[in-house]
Amino acid sequence: MTTAFSESVGIALRVNGEPVSARVEARRHLIDFLRLDLGLTGAHAGCEHGVCGACTVQVDGLIVRGCLMLAVQADGCDVWTIEGQSDTGAIRDLQDAFIARNALQCGFCTPGMLAACADLLAHDPAPSRAVIREHISGNYCRCTGYEAIVDAVEQVAARRGASPRAAE
Ligand code: FES
Ligand code: FES
Repeated sequence: MTTAFSESVGIALRVNGEPVSARVEARRHLIDFLRLDLGLTGAHAGCEHGVCGACTVQVDGLIVRGCLMLAVQADGCDVWTIEGQSDTGAIRDLQDAFIARNALQCGFCTPGMLAACADLLAHDPAPSRAVIREHISGNYCRCTGYEAIVDAVEQVAARRGASPRAAE
């Protein structure tokens, strides 16, 4: 392996609204930078190869897999983790619905699942159950069976004033 991957690189970005400057190894993944360097342990490292969605965070308004993105690629970006999304209250209704509907059990998938569901509702305020399922199809949950998660998202969409489209 070339030594370039272990070279230290300076990056400057915003994380949860706050400016962050750091030096990171070129090979450091964003999820490890967030969890191990910044102590933002909400998003989890599960499969670490882009399959489970546990590491989902938002970068420049889009959800990404933190295990497939290098920290250096986030240089200059606006990154939001579940900690920041929680602190702003932006997803409070979604979090409440997850609790009310028993849409989490062990909670390992939940930060990534919430990020994915929040992203869906931001772009499609009235998703059908089929669309909800499609959108979270890259986020694995080994506990809930997904029905309760879909219920929670549907409930939030309805309470935000949208009428779910007919099932596709
Ligand atoms: S840890 Fe990134 S997709 Fe599983
Ligand atoms: S709540 Fe346990 S994996 Fe989803």
